Amino acid sequence: MAMIHINGEERQAPDPERNLLSYLRFDLGLTGTKYACGEGLCGACTVLVDGQLTRACTTTVGAVAGGSILTIEGLADGDRLHPVQQAFVEENAMQCGYCIPGFVLSTVALLTRQPHPSNGEIREALGSNICRCGSYNRIERAVARAAELMEASR
Ligand code: FES
Ligand code: FES
Repeated sequence: MAMIHINGEERQAPDPERNLLSYLRFDLGLTGTKYACGEGLCGACTVLVDGQLTRACTTTVGAVAGGSILTIEGLADGDRLHPVQQAFVEENAMQCGYCIPGFVLSTVALLTRQPHPSNGEIREALGSNICRCGSYNRIERAVARAAELMEASR
């Protein structure tokens, strides 16, 4: 029986053709992963699979079976927010908040490969995430703050 690892838990995988976003939201109740465009274009459904950014809306469960999936629900350490989450709170980056899980996980991926990104690198890394509220300036400040917090926590 195929297994799937989500937020540190091993689960029995469903039909490999099952859409990953639907599986997370409707089967597991992990509704922090959002549905928006449904076409891989906006980043609202972003999860990390073995640390790689993955658009859940256009991914089947079978495509990620064997991988380790991280959703926004798996990022905090109990009651303690991950530094990236903390930075988004401190910089008040959220307007409606719908896009934010995708931005947060994209930021985690960015800061993992580049701990000290320039403003240009931040913009480029988050360039395929869309915020319909236009909260981009605050999100960029949050990413810069997240880099500081992560540096301080090392
Ligand atoms: S909902 Fe998946 S990229 Fe937009
Ligand atoms: S904060 Fe509303 S879509 Fe980004």
